[in-house]
Amino acid sequence: MKKVITYGTYDLLHQGHINLLRRAKELGDYLIVGVTSDSFDIGRGKLNVRNNVLERVEAVKATGYADEVIIEDYLGQKIDDIQKYEVDIFAIGSDWVGKFDYLNEYCKVVYLPRTEGISSTQLRAETQLISRLGIIGSGRIAKRFVPEAAVVNGVEVTAVYNPDQQECQAFAEKFGIDGFSDFELFINRVDAVYIATPHKSHFEYAKRAIKYGKHVLCEVPMTLSLSESKELFDLAEQQGVVLLEANKTAYCPAFNHLVTLVKSGVVGQVVDVRASLSKMVHAPIRELDPEQGGGAMNEHASITLLPILKILGLDYSTVGFHSRYEGGVDVFTKMVINYPHATAAITLGVGVKTEGDLVISGTKGYVYVPAPWWLTEYFEIRHEDQSKNKKYFYSYDGDGLRYEIQEFVSMIINHRHRSYKLSKRESLTMATIIEMSNKGTNVTRI
Ligand code: CTP
Repeated sequence: MKKVITYGTYDLLHQGHINLLRRAKELGDYLIVGVTSDSFDIGRGKLNVRNNVLERVEAVKATGYADEVIIEDYLGQKIDDIQKYEVDIFAIGSDWVGKFDYLNEYCKVVYLPRTEGISSTQLRAETQLISRLGIIGSGRIAKRFVPEAAVVNGVEVTAVYNPDQQECQAFAEKFGIDGFSDFELFINRVDAVYIATPHKSHFEYAKRAIKYGKHVLCEVPMTLSLSESKELFDLAEQQGVVLLEANKTAYCPAFNHLVTLVKSGVVGQVVDVRASLSKMVHAPIRELDPEQGGGAMNEHASITLLPILKILGLDYSTVGFHSRYEGGVDVFTKMVINYPHATAAITLGVGVKTEGDLVISGTKGYVYVPAPWWLTEYFEIRHEDQSKNKKYFYSYDGDGLRYEIQEFVSMIINHRHRSYKLSKRESLTMATIIEMSNKGTNVTRI
């Protein structure tokens, strides 16, 4: 029996795919089709696939040409599959000519004619509305945001707003977009906004944008109090718009996998989570300015609370802070969160330096994520018996903002108002804890 194998994403299955599968099947007696997993596609930078892996597998099966469907999940898998399934022919469309010649060592490689004039990319583009996105604020993070948005389909950064005309124009010219110092003119020209202003102004900007019926992606911390965050979520619900907190680690593929592994029990029952994040900065700078909501908690708590709330949940019993204050802001805070059966600690600094790692300790082992853990691309699961240790590697493309933008755009396109990657309750809990520290509740000065 002659076995043929072929691979693809098969998103929005189209006539080109059907022709290819028919031709591949005609090359032998048994056709194996490898369909890429969602995480494999994200890992190789293909962020815009519309159908999930189950839908794509079903679509391939429905063509009737595949005798077997497998999932392609890692680089190098084709060589493994060809040997494992004793494949005679590897077939792929002619857009790949030459790229798979290295497989000739294992089986015959055949490039089949590609159907002209159709592709998943084209179908996605034809059926997708482009959201015009405006940026409120033109500081450091906003500058990193524009090139990241450019790699996400379905969104185009078209405008920037900054009441300071000079800064606004400089930013607009740098990125070739429209600059506005008048909020009303700005907001009427966009469908969605990204808020990247000093923390204390997030609430008012988000509220105004939502009232105009615009979707909002807001930098962390979305607000500095529970009541403000709650008000924004309620307003977004009334207006039927997406409101998402731009906690970039929450949307990063490696971090998501880490959470699912821990939740599946790879280190047993989790008893302790320790996360640290520090950045040395020098005044005058927003991070050290009490007027602009500076301080270690306001700056870093949302990101570091993320692994704790994801893994240990939202029902903590007590929270306490030990903080060192300088110039009216906490330059260092150590926070301890107790749960009925676990504990967690966070160490944050804007004027004190520490190792920025993450350790999740369990009854069977622990997870170690080296600094900078919040840009997760590598972690290790360690056990007493070192031979059982396992290392996990991922790609973390660009500045990593593309993952949060992708989630935001996908929510807009699919009219989805919730994200399991960062739920409303998780955002509200972060706001509660940040508010406690700002009010001095359970804070011990050191
Ligand atoms: N293919 C084809 N003719 C087309 C489109 C795809 O023969 N018009 C083939 C590809 O060469 C590949 C298989 O179908 O062998 C699966 O390709 P896939 O990447 O899933 O499809 P595309 O439409 O090319 O997707 P994209 O635009 O996302 O790259």
